[in-house]
Amino acid sequence: MKTTMLSGDTDGIKCAARILTDGGLVGIPTETVYGLGADARRKSAVKRVYRAKGRPDSNPLIVHVAHIADAEEFVDFGPLALKLAEKFWPGPLTLVLPMIASCPVCREAAGGHKTLGLRIPSHPVARSLIEEFSGPIAAPSANISGRVSPTSVEHVLADLSGTIEAVVDGGPCSHGMESTILAPIGNEAILLRPGAVTRASIEKLAPVLDVPTGSPGPASPGQLERHYSPKSPLRLNAQSAGRGELLLGFGACDSSAKQNLSPSGTLKEAAHNLYGMLRQMDDLANRSGGWTIAVSPIPEIGVGVAINDRLRRAAHRTVVRD
Ligand code: TXA
Ligand code: MG
Repeated sequence: MKTTMLSGDTDGIKCAARILTDGGLVGIPTETVYGLGADARRKSAVKRVYRAKGRPDSNPLIVHVAHIADAEEFVDFGPLALKLAEKFWPGPLTLVLPMIASCPVCREAAGGHKTLGLRIPSHPVARSLIEEFSGPIAAPSANISGRVSPTSVEHVLADLSGTIEAVVDGGPCSHGMESTILAPIGNEAILLRPGAVTRASIEKLAPVLDVPTGSPGPASPGQLERHYSPKSPLRLNAQSAGRGELLLGFGACDSSAKQNLSPSGTLKEAAHNLYGMLRQMDDLANRSGGWTIAVSPIPEIGVGVAINDRLRRAAHRTVVRD
């Protein structure tokens, strides 16, 4: 199959919506990363998403909608969920909530779970596409499962060209980091995945709890140890590059750095650059004959928490299939 590159204008969006209506798959720009979109109500399309990514079918997909009222037709919003949605939507927050009996999303999209992860993206192309399609779009990140998330059209094509109908060009993703995933339970928000919305900004609305390890409570099945991985080995908290290493810098780091996530030491800029630079450094390390990517220390504050989470998972060498 030839993957068509569509522009993010009215014609491109109309064409993308038609492909979704016909049960096809479309790469979609969002403010976090590109998603691999399909009609969330359509079993055959959703099954294709899992196949295209090589993703286990028990790992649920996030469903993207245009309005809170649409989401309310799928899941039960408690008072805290509503407060969080009103504050952070449209934007990079996913809420995991109990599905209601009449929810039209197919069970395959929810990976057989009783909850559904939902978000309203803020990217204008994503929003126009959902409006034009007029239905819920299931979209995991548009990469091969376990690999680095895509933040540009080129990244989507590098992983999925030939297996999906189209990709819509919405330019580089502004955040470049996936959404924060929360499960609001009672008056507390369980943090399932750190992301573009910081913990401190959520804590202004509710206490945030981490998932206790080995807990039987809510968990994000996708949060496996090895994830977001380039092919090359990674060494974290590196001050400089050793023999056989390439330095991915941050801030005022060693001048030997091949790339710098943010020369000014700005975490938002580092998040924006992270996945693109990891892909470039990975190519370079491979071409050098299997070199290691050494990464400067990143402060564990704000969106730095999400950056470090992804780097730790990328560095984990134990292969866990996901
Ligand atoms: O920013 C994002 O969230 C991007 C854009 C495209 O929206 N999407 C994304 O999707 O990162 P994905 O599939 O790569 O990661 C979604 C994560 C997975 O780890 C999955 O296990 C978790 O969300 N998830 C989805 N639904 C869930 C649910 N009902 N309960 C627990 N975790 C859920
Ligand atoms: Mg992903």
